[in-house]
Amino acid sequence: MGSPVPAVREEPSLLRESRHATPRRYLMCPPAHFKVTYSINPWMDPSKPVDVPLALAQWEVLRDRYRSLGHTVEELTPLPGLPDMVFAANGATVIGGRVLGARFAHPERAAEAAAHLEWFRTHGYGEIREPLEVNEGEGDFAVTASYVLAGRGFRASPLSHGEAQEFFGRPVIGLELVDPRYYHLDTALAVLDEAGDEVMYHPAAFSPGSRAVLRQLFPDALEVDAADAAAFGLNAVSDGRNVLLPQAALGLFEPLRERGFEPLGVDLGELLKGGGSVKCCTLELRTD
Ligand code: ARG
Repeated sequence: MGSPVPAVREEPSLLRESRHATPRRYLMCPPAHFKVTYSINPWMDPSKPVDVPLALAQWEVLRDRYRSLGHTVEELTPLPGLPDMVFAANGATVIGGRVLGARFAHPERAAEAAAHLEWFRTHGYGEIREPLEVNEGEGDFAVTASYVLAGRGFRASPLSHGEAQEFFGRPVIGLELVDPRYYHLDTALAVLDEAGDEVMYHPAAFSPGSRAVLRQLFPDALEVDAADAAAFGLNAVSDGRNVLLPQAALGLFEPLRERGFEPLGVDLGELLKGGGSVKCCTLELRTD
């Protein structure tokens, strides 16, 4: 036969190269006082023991992973008696350096809000709002370039959506959550690339009307099935290229790679006992 045909290498790198990580600032709180002493979501079973040293070790892996990717991680001091404080995403929402504080739905977590406000006051944040309406920070608020997506149904009050829109001056899109296992928006939807308005979500976690809104706003979104949602695969954090997510969400790795992202699995199994994972532990401090 003629001269050998040079092997044509598939070019998955083409897409991959178009993904661009941007350096982030995160606020995290070590699970030094983590426990499951009450149950405010279906994942929490107070009769199951929690291994605090293991929870701390798993959390440190996540923190160090962010740092090794070039991100800045600030640490909030954990307080005794606030076992859920490790879920720092719930303590505030920060966009363009403006801070909307949290107001928790359950009395067990109420005091976390003040600890967060105090941190922002002592770290140079000038524009801070103590909310009137119940909102649990980035638990129910997700930010893309065009919108603030806002969950409701279990935790955040629908009235918090208007409050956030006025405070941030960004269009807030309300989304109704209907499955108690996905009680916060960040358990049912993740932003993969905010600049490009790219998200992934689990459709069954939303009401029919909200599903229709998501389809209209994000026609190319990655739709996540029940198994990966139940593995907390949507509780993910993306820097625009690297997507940190629970490693048990096995079905998400290939679809993410196909879209040019770099999925990085982490094991936060102990924190799952509190009903949270990667994103719940990570509050983004957005300067724009
Ligand atoms: N035990 C906490 C709660 O039910 C978990 C919060 C998880 N955080 C999150 N951003 N989804 O409030």
